[in-house]
Amino acid sequence: MRPENKGFLLDTGGRREYFSATFNRFKGAPMADKTEKLLSVLKLQPVVPVLIIDDAATAVPLARALVAGGLKAIEITLRTPAALEAIRLVANEVEGAVAGAGTILNAAQFDQAVEAGSQFIVSPGTTQELLDAASASSVPLLPGAATASEVMALREEGYEVLKFFPAEQAGGVSYLKALSSPLAGTLFCPTGGISLANAKDYLSLPNVICVGGSWVAPKELVARGDWAGITKLAAEAAGLKG
Ligand code: 3PG
Repeated sequence: MRPENKGFLLDTGGRREYFSATFNRFKGAPMADKTEKLLSVLKLQPVVPVLIIDDAATAVPLARALVAGGLKAIEITLRTPAALEAIRLVANEVEGAVAGAGTILNAAQFDQAVEAGSQFIVSPGTTQELLDAASASSVPLLPGAATASEVMALREEGYEVLKFFPAEQAGGVSYLKALSSPLAGTLFCPTGGISLANAKDYLSLPNVICVGGSWVAPKELVARGDWAGITKLAAEAAGLKG
C-alpha cells in the first residue's frame, strides 16, 4: 500500500512546486526537472506514435521502423498483455528510441511501466492515485485533460504539459485554440482522432507542442511486417510542421 502523500508547497524562484514529504526526498524529483525532461522528449518530433502491440515480437522491428522514419519517442499503450514486454524490448534493444508507456490508469501500472524502462508515462485522464504515483517517481507523467477545470486542477499540481484527450471528439482544434488565451502557459499534446490530414492544424496552435496518434502504425502494416511502409508513414509525420 502506498503511504499517504503528505506534501508541501515551496516557492522556488517564483514557481510553486509541490514536494511530497514522503517520497520526493528519496525517489521523486522536483516538478520543474520532470517538466523539462518531458519537454525534451516531446520536442524530439511533431508526432508521437501511439501503439497497441498485440505481439511483443513485433515491438522491436516496429520501433526500429519508426525511429528510421524520424519518430524516436514512442508510446506503447498498456492495452494488451504484450505491452510491458514490448516496452522492455524497445527500451533495451532499439537504439535511438525513447520508450514511453500510455493508457496508464493507476499507480500499479505506473510502477510496472517504469520498471519496464519507460522514460515517460501518458494517461488518458487524471486521478489522485496517479498523481501520487507520479510524484513519487522521477519519470515524468503526461496527464490527460479535456476541460478547463481539469487543466486548472493539474496546473495547481504543477503540471504545465498535458495530453488533450480525446482531441477530435472533445472539440478539436477550435476547442483547444479557445483554451490557449485563458490557460496560457499550458502546452498540450492532443491525441485521439488525429491523422496526417488534421495534424498540421493542431501543430499550428501556440499551445500545442506535438500531437499523438496511431495512424503511423496501422494494424495491417504491422501484421504484414511492412516495416518499410511504416518508416514511410513515420517520415511523413516527422516532416510535419505547424
Ligand atoms: C490515445 O491513446 O492517445 C489514442 O487512442 C490515440 O488515438 P488514435 O488511435 O485516434 O490516434
